[in-house]
Amino acid sequence: MCGIVGYIGYEQATPLLLQGLEKLEYRGYDSAGVAVYDGSRLEVVKAKGRLQVLSDLLDGGKKLTGTVGIGHTRWATHGRPSDINSHPQVSDSGKFAVVHNGIIENYMQLKEHLIRRGVKFVSETDTEVVAQLFEYYYKGDMVETLIKVISKVEGSYALGVISQEHPDQLLAVRKDSPLIVGLGKGENYIASDIPAILSKTRDIYRLEDKEIAVLTTGGVTVYNTDYEIVQKTPFHVDWDISAAEKGGYEHFMAKEIMEQPKAVRDTISPRIRNGEIVLDDIKLTRQQIQDISKIFIVACGSAYHVGVVAKYVLEKLTRKPVEVDLASEFRYRSPILDDNTLVVVISQSGETADTLAALREAKKLGARVLSIVNVVGSSIASDSDDVLYTWAGPEIAVATTKAYSTQLCVVYLIALYMARQLGTLSDEAYANYVDELQQLPDKIEQVLQNKAGIQYFASQYFNCHDIFFIGRNYDYAMSLEGSLKLKEISYIHSEAYAAGELKHGPISLIEEGTLVVALATQDQLFDKMVSNIKEVKARGAVVLGVTTEKHKEIEQVADYEFYIPNASDIMLPSLAVVPLQLFSYYIASMKGCDIDKPRNLAKSVTVE
Ligand code: F6R
Repeated sequence: MCGIVGYIGYEQATPLLLQGLEKLEYRGYDSAGVAVYDGSRLEVVKAKGRLQVLSDLLDGGKKLTGTVGIGHTRWATHGRPSDINSHPQVSDSGKFAVVHNGIIENYMQLKEHLIRRGVKFVSETDTEVVAQLFEYYYKGDMVETLIKVISKVEGSYALGVISQEHPDQLLAVRKDSPLIVGLGKGENYIASDIPAILSKTRDIYRLEDKEIAVLTTGGVTVYNTDYEIVQKTPFHVDWDISAAEKGGYEHFMAKEIMEQPKAVRDTISPRIRNGEIVLDDIKLTRQQIQDISKIFIVACGSAYHVGVVAKYVLEKLTRKPVEVDLASEFRYRSPILDDNTLVVVISQSGETADTLAALREAKKLGARVLSIVNVVGSSIASDSDDVLYTWAGPEIAVATTKAYSTQLCVVYLIALYMARQLGTLSDEAYANYVDELQQLPDKIEQVLQNKAGIQYFASQYFNCHDIFFIGRNYDYAMSLEGSLKLKEISYIHSEAYAAGELKHGPISLIEEGTLVVALATQDQLFDKMVSNIKEVKARGAVVLGVTTEKHKEIEQVADYEFYIPNASDIMLPSLAVVPLQLFSYYIASMKGCDIDKPRNLAKSVTVE
């Protein structure tokens, strides 16, 4: 979604703002802009389209001088992408400039109120209301004004504000949308995500909801809404900027696919000691695990697909009933929860608006929340009773790959840990699973080494219009993920079906040449999948069969085969997902798509 960068210091702000915005491009956007105090007034330059358009207008930043400024990449919500609707938005007099991520839900009422008092609006955005309110309430003190403004607005926001009345200050505040403050020497920063400022500082404050940061060249002071100082402890970022750079790959997605063995190893290894899974990071006791009456898994998109696998794994190993729900559905359907319910929330960014709201709803209803999160200190992590981090490192491509794979591993860890506490697994079965878990990074590496087979297959079919993914149980969950990955980055229409459901409707869509990716990795369901492959072949489909090395008989029914290493049923998804990721990647690459920043999509979905 939208990106924010702000700077106050002694260097020229505009080039720094452009560099920071470039690092946020991966989040998805349709326009960009900056506002800088040039020594006498605020200068605002904005443009629809790629950041390059803005950069060209500003001659790489040279055209706009000044040492305090804010910048923004906008992903349109209120009002179409246009120069006028881009941020920064300014107040009527041009004295206050605002950048905003999130949605001001009551902007219509506020706008009408201001219009009745003679304020003139120029854009269709909800953000302009914030800039206008700021000017309307301003009586000389920036913090007092911001406190007043946020007491009036409803919704979610991360805001950066500068003013020509106080060019020595840059203000920031957030609610339900991420915002960090970067600490430097004689210069300070704000950003909606760490990569934007990582080349400048590694020491950051994560702002809590409604904390107001006042940045000057001399330092940063944080206030609460009673205008009292809040003591903050800086957080040191220990990952390297190279982790957020392409490192020789053409796309972040390719790099992140190839990083999976390491990401998975980093996530698993510290949590296995002498053959035992040790989850030091969670406080859930054996008694609490025994008392769990039901587990809900709540997430969005690919993280939800991890949840579908998790349902099968948790039910199999713990014998506890598990429901998996889309966060956007869960939050509005009055789920039945109590203090013996465990809600497992899965999110790479830790900021997804629907997932965060579902988490809060679950807590309100008395449930205990355990989250699986990649971004340390994110809102979902902060609001959960327990957090298990996926150590995937920064994921930049919009389409998730390594975060998905590490989320699966954390699911295995939780399921095995709970099964051990509950006594639902024999010692031998537990030891075998733990051993298998440790072998996963090497097996993923083996799959990646065979990527040429998938590349060849993609080269044959990158022009097709429809693709079906079919599978049963775990393989159905993989079909959901394979289909989503393909459609989001290649824009090819695709459907995922539980293979047994085909004959209840969708098989009518299969005709001569329709491409079907059939996942048949599960031993006990292999024969059933062979029957489903025959059914679609009989109607003219071309079939890629994905199965394990032991099922060479797939060659008798499928047109193409891809083999993954043998593994236990619950861990096969970690191997089966890799060819699906590669397939989408190669197809999108051959079609010339903007792989890391697919149209209409954003990395971190911080609006509902
Ligand atoms: C798909 C994808 C999205 C995310 C979803 C949830 O490749 O990346 O479907 O999985 O938006 O995002 P997080 O995990 O950040 O909550």
